[in-house]
Amino acid sequence: MKKAYIRSFGCQMNEYDADKMSDVLALAYGTERTNSLEDADIILFNTCSVRENAQEKVFHHLGRLRPLKAAKPELLIGVGGCVASQEGAEIVRRVPHVDFVFGPQTLHRLPQLIAARRASGRAQVDISFPAIEKFDHLPQARRQGPTAFVSIMEGCSKFCSFCIVPYTRGEEVSRPLPDVLAEVAGLAMQGVREITLLGQNVNAYRGRVGDDSADLAFLIETIAEMPGVERIRFTTSHPREMSARLVEVYGRVPKLVSHLHLPVQSGADRVLAAMKRGYTALEYKSIIRKLRAVRPGMSFSSDFIVGFPGETDADFQATLRLVEEVGFGDSYSFIYSPRPGTPAAELGDDTPAEVKEQRLAQLQRRIDLQGADERRRMLGRVERVLVEGHAAKDPAELAGRTDNNVVVNFPGAAALIGRLVELRITQAMTHSLRGELLAETAAA
Ligand code: SAM
Ligand code: SF4
Ligand code: F3S
Repeated sequence: MKKAYIRSFGCQMNEYDADKMSDVLALAYGTERTNSLEDADIILFNTCSVRENAQEKVFHHLGRLRPLKAAKPELLIGVGGCVASQEGAEIVRRVPHVDFVFGPQTLHRLPQLIAARRASGRAQVDISFPAIEKFDHLPQARRQGPTAFVSIMEGCSKFCSFCIVPYTRGEEVSRPLPDVLAEVAGLAMQGVREITLLGQNVNAYRGRVGDDSADLAFLIETIAEMPGVERIRFTTSHPREMSARLVEVYGRVPKLVSHLHLPVQSGADRVLAAMKRGYTALEYKSIIRKLRAVRPGMSFSSDFIVGFPGETDADFQATLRLVEEVGFGDSYSFIYSPRPGTPAAELGDDTPAEVKEQRLAQLQRRIDLQGADERRRMLGRVERVLVEGHAAKDPAELAGRTDNNVVVNFPGAAALIGRLVELRITQAMTHSLRGELLAETAAA
C-alpha cells in the first residue's frame, strides 16, 4: 500500500484525526499521502454529520468511487469519522464498494481492520468507543511547520438539543496531563512554536495527574513555561466552562493569544433555553466583559445557528444586537439542520426557508463588516506574527498569523519561516492584511 488519499470533512478534530490516520498507515506500511484518487491504493473519507448537507456530501463522494473500485479491485475504501460512527454497517449496505468503516475512537486499529478485510474478504465495521485508548496506540507526533494541534480531550457531554456530536463522539474524556505535556514537549523540541489545544469542549478538560485532576487553566500555565513554546491557542470552548480560573489566565499568561472562539449560537434567551445551552445572553456577555477587563483588545469569533425551530424575528434581532455588542469579527454560521435522533428534530418549525436564508445573509454581512472594521483598526499597528510559510497567492512572499488570528502577507526571506517577527500593518484586505518587516522578535 504505497499511496493513501485521505480527505477530511467537518471540524478541526476531524483534520487532526486524518493526520493521525496518515501517521498510522505510514508506520504500518510506509504509506505516503497523495492528492490523486487515481494514484491511491487506499482511500479514506473522514466524515462529518453535523448537518444533513455534510452527511449527504459523503455519500455522493463515495458513490463516485465505484468505477475506480471496479477498475482496481485491490483498492481499499474506508469510511471514518462521525457519519461512520452514526451509521456503521448501514454505510456498507448503502455503498457496497466500501471495505471498512471505523469510528473516531478506533482509527488506531486501521491495520487490524485492513488485515481482517483482506483475510475474510468481507467488509469490516468497528465503531466502538474504547475510551481514550487510541492515544496510547498512536505513533509519536511529528511536525515540520512551526504550528501544531494537540488533542487534549474527546467527545461531548453537553447534549445541546440540536447537536449530533455527543452521539457520534461519545462522552467527554480527557487525556492524562503527563501525556499531553510529553507530546507538547516533543513538538517544541522539533521546532513547533505555536500549540493549539484541541477538543470538542476543550475548556471542559479535566486531566488526571495521579489522584488529582488538572483543568485547562493549569495546563495552559504549565505549557507556557515550556522552552520553545511561544504561543498557545485552544479551540473549541463552551461558554459554560469559561471558569474564573481560565479568565484569570488571560491576565497572567501573555503567550495565550488575544483571540477566543466562543460559540454562542443565538442572542435570544428563549432560543438558548430551547437549545439547552445552559447560559443566557447576559451571562455570555459577562464572560466577554471579564475577559476584556483582564486582556484589553481581545477579539472574539463565534458559531451561530440561524432558524432554530420557533426562532422569531424578535429572537433574531436579539442575536444581531449581541453580535454588535460583542463586536464579533468572524463566525461559522449556518441554518439549523434537523439531525435524526436529537431532541430538536422533534420540534415544530414554521419559519419559511427564505426567511432563514435572509437572516443568515444579514448575520453574515454584519459580522463581515465588523471583521473588516477590526482589520482596518489594525492599520499602522505593530503586530507580532508567527511566520508559517510562503504566501498562498505569491510564493515569493511570506505569510503568518497575528495574535488575534488574522493572516498577514509580507515580503521577506524564507529563513524567517518558523520565527516570530514584528510587522507594521500597511494594508487591510477583505480577509487578510499586508505588512512590512520591522524586526525579528527573539524566539527562545
Ligand atoms: N462544542 C462546540 C460548542 O458547543 O461550542 C461546537 C462544536 S459543533 C461540532 C460546531 C458547530 O456546529 C456548533 O457550534 C453549531 O453552531 C453547529 N451545529 C451543530 N449542530 C447543528 C445543526 N443541527 N444545525 C446547524 N448547525 C449545527
Ligand atoms: Fe454539540 Fe453542544 Fe456538544 Fe457543542 S456543546 S458539541 S454544540 S452538544
Ligand atoms: Fe462534524 Fe463530527 Fe466534527 S459531526 S463537526 S466531524 S465532531
